[in-house]
Amino acid sequence: MPKVAVLVGSARSRSINQALARALGKLAAGRLEFDFVPLDELPMFNGDMENNPPEAVWAFKRRVEAADALLFVTPEYNRSIPALLKNAIDWASRPWGQNSFAGKPGAVIGATPGQTGVAAGQQHLRNIVSPLQVLLLTQPEAYVQLQPGAIDADDAFTNPAQREFLQGYVDAFAGWIDRLAPAAKVAAAA
Ligand code: FNR
Repeated sequence: MPKVAVLVGSARSRSINQALARALGKLAAGRLEFDFVPLDELPMFNGDMENNPPEAVWAFKRRVEAADALLFVTPEYNRSIPALLKNAIDWASRPWGQNSFAGKPGAVIGATPGQTGVAAGQQHLRNIVSPLQVLLLTQPEAYVQLQPGAIDADDAFTNPAQREFLQGYVDAFAGWIDRLAPAAKVAAAA
């Protein structure tokens, strides 16, 4: 079963994006294995550390590299992505020549409690990871509005229409990973 490194842009204990990631993992059960990679153990990137980073950075990079695909689940902060996620992406891309993301299939998704949001942040995220050779799923896009009660204590979506849409999203991502498996192997070997 393909392993997916799940990178969530909020480490908040009651984060709706963490809840979304867990609920997506449940929808993917039996088809994809989700590895929830913590981002809040990484130091703030500093070029002085780039060639000799602390162990937490290597552990993060090895965990990402062990995955077959990447799922970015993130809120929008001020029309962009949170520094937590950008910092992790910067570490994944370094040291020079050791880009941990190269050639992996990926997808982006995110939740907001309000009427507007996440589209601008996701567009920024697509711009950031595309040059890092993440092969992004383009459709369906998923701008998820999560109001209180939308996900229950068992990580299940309570609204059938929302559950059906997100099941379709997970299925499309799994299909994308299958389709790109040969290309990802070639990129990893290069
Ligand atoms: C936000 N929020 C937000 N929402 C949005 O739709 N567009 C935006 O530009 C922003 N900007 C923003 C900046 C900062 C610093 C914070 C703290 C919040 C609101 C955000 O979507 C909301 O707080 C989410 O609940 C955060 O995600 P988690 O932590 O619940 O996953």
